[in-house]
Amino acid sequence: MTHAIDSVRAYHERTKHHFQRYAAGPHGLDWATQPDPFRTYAGSRQTPLPLLPESSPIRQVKYTDLYGGSIAPQALDLTHIAALLELAFGLSAWKQYGDNRWALRCNPSSGNLHPTEAYVVAQGCAGLNDGVHHYVSRDHVLEQRCALNGAALPAGGFLVGLSAIHWREAWKYGERAFRYCQHDAGHALAATRYAAAVLGWRVRLLDDWADAEIAALLGLDRAEDFGEAEREHPDLLLWVETRAVSDQRSAVSSQRSAVSDQRSAISAQSLHAAAGQWSGRANVLSPEHKHDWPVIEEVAEASRKPRTEAGAWQPPALPAPLPSTCPAGALELIKQRRSAQEFDGVTSISNGAFYRMLDLTLPRANVPPWDAIAWPPRIHLALFVHRIEGLMPGVYFLLRNDGVETRMRAELSNEFQWEKVAGCPAHLKLYRVVAADTRNAARALSCHQDIAADSAFSLGMLAEYDRALEAGPWAYRQLFWEAGMLGQVLYLEAEAAGVRGTGIGCFFDDGVHDLLGIEGRWLQSLYHFTVGGALSDERLQTLPPYAHLQGR
Ligand SMILES: Cc1cc2nc3c(=O)[nH]c(=O)nc-3n(C[C@H](O)[C@H](O)[C@H](O)COP(=O)(O)O)c2cc1C
Repeated sequence: MTHAIDSVRAYHERTKHHFQRYAAGPHGLDWATQPDPFRTYAGSRQTPLPLLPESSPIRQVKYTDLYGGSIAPQALDLTHIAALLELAFGLSAWKQYGDNRWALRCNPSSGNLHPTEAYVVAQGCAGLNDGVHHYVSRDHVLEQRCALNGAALPAGGFLVGLSAIHWREAWKYGERAFRYCQHDAGHALAATRYAAAVLGWRVRLLDDWADAEIAALLGLDRAEDFGEAEREHPDLLLWVETRAVSDQRSAVSSQRSAVSDQRSAISAQSLHAAAGQWSGRANVLSPEHKHDWPVIEEVAEASRKPRTEAGAWQPPALPAPLPSTCPAGALELIKQRRSAQEFDGVTSISNGAFYRMLDLTLPRANVPPWDAIAWPPRIHLALFVHRIEGLMPGVYFLLRNDGVETRMRAELSNEFQWEKVAGCPAHLKLYRVVAADTRNAARALSCHQDIAADSAFSLGMLAEYDRALEAGPWAYRQLFWEAGMLGQVLYLEAEAAGVRGTGIGCFFDDGVHDLLGIEGRWLQSLYHFTVGGALSDERLQTLPPYAHLQGR
């Protein structure tokens, strides 16, 4: 354990970008070995999935309804599992420039490389064989890897498993890639939670499961099915609860216990015992790997999760989420989410819209995506405010949990002012610590990317690193998942406010820490994000996501 935690800490240190030197990477892209973005299992039985029809009542769900807890649960059938997969992992568009064509998906990904693979484990779902299925977003099909014989899952739900193919990110980013795979898993977790919310379903992370159990369930440990193909690492397992709950509003605590009861009925042993014949052979994604990044395997091994107690943390009671004026449908908003590649440098955001975005980063019972996890917030936001109406430009902090303020003040520069922001809703712990134009600093710290300066605000996500790692080396990955979830909240909230966001994985770690006066390792910046008025690249053609499936 000591060795594993040391490996994780060493990985984190060596994959920091510095002003004078970037983390080790391939220095240029080798297009001939670009990984295939789509994993398939040849020889597996395929179940084509329906796309959501134009007439589907699900299209009537408003984005703001997702936070009200009043969406009637849809039946557990193939159409609705298909809808969940389409909204969480499906294609959202194809982009074309010259002869180059690439797919975008509902979930974002560092470098659009999409290391995350999704699986469904279901029983008793009309239209789908009982079994373990792998999702292919390009074709919107499920590939059956294994049948399940005999009851192994409780009624009223199914499992979604996520794995990562580290090579996809390592091909471009080298050693830092493991971090990006974890960010992407967090985005995917939140994307699943939002998609489930559209269907009136709930989601819980099965955080007691060991990685080895997830690997066995999803068939990731079956060396014979991979051969030369790039392996997948187990990330996480989600229980999607589809059962109707009679009164969602009045039964908050009993709802919680109902979900927990169901979770404890999901046993790795019974699923293992029910597994029948496996089928399918994984495709090779790159003809060769010119570079090897052994430290990725090392940190993956060191941060492997054993079986643990399930998390039981409950969020504090907060007022209902601040209102949003977004009139958009949930489905429309999820599908229109994109990363801004350039910002206009002029658009400002009202302080009300800003507070709403920050508010939705706070966990509340039964509010997506935070009700999917059961650990206290371990990440706080260092905000570079450029253009928020009514707020002076400067550095601000949003503290996301109670009782951390004294420690934060001690860890951060003693020149900071910690002024509570006048007019900000009382439950938001938002402080201005410096009034200044921080555009140049934000740009420089985010690897000189203009997107951090030309937006309305950008931010660094500061994790309680030392404290989180006390739980075990696997908590390193969970910190990045939390960061990815924060990113997904901001992506959707930005769209809802009529602006756009972009995740920023490239930043100078210790440069950020120096600017904020952080000396030790108690706080570490794990992810950046930026939100503002986007410019679109008119040279790119946008094509519909699934025209190629017409007539299937
Ligand atoms: C973890 C993560 C890190 C990212 N880092 C950057 C970055 O440093 N700079 C940037 O311009 N975009 C960054 N992006 C945005 C991705 O390039 C974008 O998600 C991807 O191209 C897919 O496009 P889409 O988000 O529009 O679907 C990042 C996205 C994620 C999820």
